[in-house]
Amino acid sequence: MAFSQDIVNKINALTQKYPQGKQKSALIPVLHLIQETGNNSLSIEQMDEVASLLQILPIEVYEVATFYTMFNLKPVGKYVLEVCQTGPCMLNGSDEIIEYIKQKLNIKNGETTPDGLFTLKTAECLGACGYAPMMQLGKTYKEFLTPQKIDEILETCRNAAN
Ligand code: FES
Repeated sequence: MAFSQDIVNKINALTQKYPQGKQKSALIPVLHLIQETGNNSLSIEQMDEVASLLQILPIEVYEVATFYTMFNLKPVGKYVLEVCQTGPCMLNGSDEIIEYIKQKLNIKNGETTPDGLFTLKTAECLGACGYAPMMQLGKTYKEFLTPQKIDEILETCRNAAN
């Protein structure tokens, strides 16, 4: 599978923001681009093609894509609930929030609902400890989570998807 010329042009535009010989520095923005223009996940084939275009080894792409939780290595739902489970969030009830979401959506951590709408993931500190417990939903943070807030968030997502 080859990227379209439009995608290749966008990748070239990203790499040109970096000094000559440092195209590899564009890796994270390039992976975001590929993920956002696809089905919100990265395939091995796509990562291999990124490696080829940036003239780096495939393993260098895999290392980055597997390190950051913002990259999905398998298809995910339209909405990805990434609940922080690190200390401050845990002390403020993230375990209960995660459990509530699991029961509410009838999925385990890492799974997607059968309708393809929601994926549950856990994340390490997202830098919003003062608003614990919190989660990332797309590009927004949802803070001071309670079961009631989770209900409202899920409802809002469902309505937006219809
Ligand atoms: Fe959850 Fe820092 S511990 S945002």
